[in-house]
Formats: sequence, C-alpha cells, structure tokens
Amino acid sequence: MKPVFALIAAALVAGPAFASQELAQKKNCMACHAVDKKLVGPAYKDVAAKYKGDKGAEAKLAEKVMKGGVGTWGQVPMPANPQVSKEEAATLVKWVLSQK
Ligand code: HEC
Repeated sequence: MKPVFALIAAALVAGPAFASQELAQKKNCMACHAVDKKLVGPAYKDVAAKYKGDKGAEAKLAEKVMKGGVGTWGQVPMPANPQVSKEEAATLVKWVLSQK
C-alpha cells in the first residue's frame, strides 16, 4: 500500500471520534477547552460527567454552544459561536458527552 492510502485508511479506522475532535479544533473550541483539564472553560470529560444520564443535555448544550452562556461552571462566560451550525453543534456536543 502506498503511504497516502495507509493514512486514509488510518483516518477511516479512527472514525467519528477523530473527525469530531478535528471539528472542535477547526471551530476554535480547543482555544478554551481541553478534553482532560480545565482551561478557560471546563474540561470536556468534566462536562460529560456532569450531564451523565441527563437526556435533555444534548439539546441544551448544543444551544449553549451556539449562543454562549455563563454561570454553570463559574463566572467566566462562553461567548456565542456563530461559526458553528446547528448540525455541527450537535456533533460537537455528542463528542464532548462521550469523553471519559
Ligand atoms: C472563549 C472561550 C471559549 C470558547 C472559544 C468555547 N468555549 Fe465552551 N465554555 C467556555 C466557558 C468559560 C464555559 C463555562 C460557561 C458556564 O460556566 O456556564 C464553557 C462551557 C462549555 C460547555 C458546557 C456548558 C454547560 O452549560 O455546562 C460545553 C459543552 C462547551 N463549552 C462546548 C464548547 C464548544 C463545542 C466550543 C466550540 C464551538 C466551545 N465550547 C468554545 C469557554 C469557551
């Protein structure tokens, strides 16, 4: 196999989790968030733990990702993210909630 095909195959195997992290990077989420430590915003694995078992969380958080908000994790607000579409927000939130 030529190296380029090996790379594509590796990306396909890594699958949706990998794609969602790329999306988070592209949409600048990772400027304020990390998966496993608090930066400006909460660690994504802490977000996942907080909403574990909360069926309404996906919709609520997708809304917050698009419009921004404050007060759940502290006094630092998350600004609105108008660069994120509804579908992208849903994808990102699913990925965030799958972190452990
Ligand atoms: C400028 C910094 C910044 C950026 C950029 C940012 N966030 Fe946040 N995020 C925050 C802060 C601060 C909070 C905590 C808000 C609060 O306490 O209510 C937060 C909270 C969250 C939460 C938890 C919300 C809750 O109510 O529990 C999620 C999920 C989240 N961010 C996802 C994202 C995603 C996805 C992106 C990229 C589209 C993003 N964030 C971009 C700073 C940021």
